[in-house]
Amino acid sequence: MRKLNLQFFLKGAMMLSAASMIFLSGCAKDGSDGANGTNGTNGVDAVATCKLCHNPSVVDSMAVQFQLSKHEFGIAAEEEAGSTTCGPCHLHKSFIYVCKNNTPATFAKLGTDTTFTNLYYVANDAAYGKITCFTCHSSLHTTYGYSDMSSLTTTAAVPMTMWAGTQTINLTQDGGKSNLCVKCHQPRPFTKSNTGQDKNIIDYASLKNNPTDTFYSPYRANSLNVLRPSYRTHTHYGTVGAAFAGKGGIEFAGTLTYTSSKHTTDVSCQDCHMAPMTGKAGGHSFVAKGNFKSCTPCHPSVTSTSQDAAYWATPRAEIKTLLNALAAKLKVNGVEIMNRNGNTNEAVGGVNLWAGLTTNNYDGYLNIYDPVTNPLMDTYNTTSFQFIGTPSATTWTAAQIAKNATLPKLALTNAQMGAIINFQICLREYSLGIHNYKYVKALLTNSIAILP
Ligand code: HEC
Ligand code: HEC
Ligand code: HEC
Ligand code: HEC
Ligand code: HEC
Ligand code: HEC
Repeated sequence: MRKLNLQFFLKGAMMLSAASMIFLSGCAKDGSDGANGTNGTNGVDAVATCKLCHNPSVVDSMAVQFQLSKHEFGIAAEEEAGSTTCGPCHLHKSFIYVCKNNTPATFAKLGTDTTFTNLYYVANDAAYGKITCFTCHSSLHTTYGYSDMSSLTTTAAVPMTMWAGTQTINLTQDGGKSNLCVKCHQPRPFTKSNTGQDKNIIDYASLKNNPTDTFYSPYRANSLNVLRPSYRTHTHYGTVGAAFAGKGGIEFAGTLTYTSSKHTTDVSCQDCHMAPMTGKAGGHSFVAKGNFKSCTPCHPSVTSTSQDAAYWATPRAEIKTLLNALAAKLKVNGVEIMNRNGNTNEAVGGVNLWAGLTTNNYDGYLNIYDPVTNPLMDTYNTTSFQFIGTPSATTWTAAQIAKNATLPKLALTNAQMGAIINFQICLREYSLGIHNYKYVKALLTNSIAILP
């Protein structure tokens, strides 16, 4: 379809230039022919500059690689269309909007509001569009020269929306190109969302500094609970940016200090995710998985086709063991807080993108009964915590409501809440420490130690 459009466009452009070559003579007042004018200077041949990009080795080739990218085939852009708050990372128009307007990541009370609003949102008319070439290459079709290709939509430092801008990620290596990725691949904030609360972000510092205090309890006045945990109380999927930069976790004091591996300062997302194509990975597929060609330039022992123990198997096994150990400690009266989910079948709802990274297939969600948003829950956890709040009489069956009443109640300390956030960050960075081994190891190790 696109190819056809382009041919049509090019044909049109050529017909137009042919028409302008037909000599049009002026007509004098008395009706006799006037003197011929001088020929104008030739314009730039638009078709020639188009060809600098529109040829088999540039746009055509990248577009084919891009078919293998979840940016292209993922369906989140359709599901989130119309959402002014999900848009900044999921929708073309919204991403352009937040970059152009330098939309702040802070929270504020608007007008006469008594509660806070997360300002990282876009206008209603900017909440649609799939991620395309034009999302990252912001100057395409402006001068129609090849240089339009090289300007990226943003390379600026990224104020973290999870931290309402109090922490900033700035990966300056490789011309700051990683900041383009981090602008979207970053976690989202936890807010004081319980009834009567001010909707500002939660106090992450108090999780770290007062680990034994109660974060949530069903046994105290509800007004003291800043948020009510649910199955979906989670650090949103884009945790790679935080883990890679070595920022944004709940940094409990412990035996390990919070430093980062060399990758954080010396390697860009592009180095590993846009290396030369190998199978279905590399280039504009943006896939790193299975592409060891990206490691070879820096780690010759890792060949283009296979990993090696020191730079792959050993650190990954260690992080996997730490994730397993942290999940095993995240329990209340013997019941696991983290949700298990062995579903890898896209066709069945609730697929676990992180299946296999832990022995019990945790997905980062909480093990709180919810037959509506997590219908597969019963299949994977032996028992779950009671739903917090009033089950819906319209979407729950009577049997589900009755079952819920028999389940144990969840309560959380600050240490447990912080450890949950760290578990989610470290699980969902997906690489089992390849991104930033040192930071992930410190977050997990110190979280395990702080839990009783
Ligand atoms: C700097 C590189 C570049 C130049 C120069 C360029 N284009 Fe494009 N063009 C692109 C890219 C990238 C796309 C998107 C391809 C895709 O989505 O698969 C595109 C898409 C198109 C499309 C499809 C519709 C659309 O907008 O997505 C048409 C038509 C088109 N270009 C025409 C032209 C014409 C005519 C010229 C010259 C006057 C030109 N282009 C010059 C990069 C370029
Ligand atoms: C405009 C926001 C945005 C930018 C910029 C962006 N991404 Fe993404 N990326 C996403 C979203 C959203 C998804 C998931 C799409 C879906 O599932 O529909 C995704 C998916 C991915 C995936 C696949 C993840 C999976 O679960 O299979 C990889 C890998 C990836 N991005 C890497 C990158 C890299 C590397 C960069 C920088 C060159 C980058 N992204 C830039 C938003 C972005
Ligand atoms: C700060 C950026 C950001 C915001 C805001 C954001 N997301 Fe995402 N989301 C991402 C990224 C990045 C991914 C892909 C991460 C990956 O696969 O590693 C993602 C993945 C997802 C997925 C999983 C898609 C899949 O491949 O299965 C869903 C569903 C989703 N987001 C829904 C939402 C909803 C709903 C909102 C608004 C309430 C939202 N997101 C807001 C960054 C964001
Ligand atoms: C998620 C962001 C993103 C998307 C979407 C994207 N690109 Fe790119 N593109 C990049 C980055 C980053 C680079 C620089 C890579 C590097 O430095 O290694 C790049 C480089 C390129 C280059 C080489 C530019 C040069 O100066 O040599 C071309 C050509 C290109 N992209 C074409 C495309 C086309 C065509 C599409 C759509 C089919 C597309 N890109 C979609 C991020 C993106
Ligand atoms: C040192 C190489 C390296 C760098 C640098 C790197 N990644 Fe990765 N990344 C990987 C590897 C390897 C995997 C896949 C691990 C696997 O094979 O299971 C991965 C996985 C991912 C995934 C999940 C993909 C999926 O298939 O679900 C996303 C998203 C991602 N990286 C984004 C980024 C972003 C954004 C950056 C920059 C901030 C980045 N990565 C920097 C190597 C790297
Ligand atoms: C642009 C260079 C570069 C690329 C590409 C690169 N690395 Fe590295 N990596 C380094 C440097 C520098 C170090 C620190 C010195 C060392 O341990 O060799 C490092 C260290 C590591 C470590 C040890 C981390 C620690 O803190 O102990 C692992 C594991 C690793 N790399 C895996 C990979 C894998 C897997 C890939 C490919 C997916 C990769 N690296 C790609 C430069 C790179």
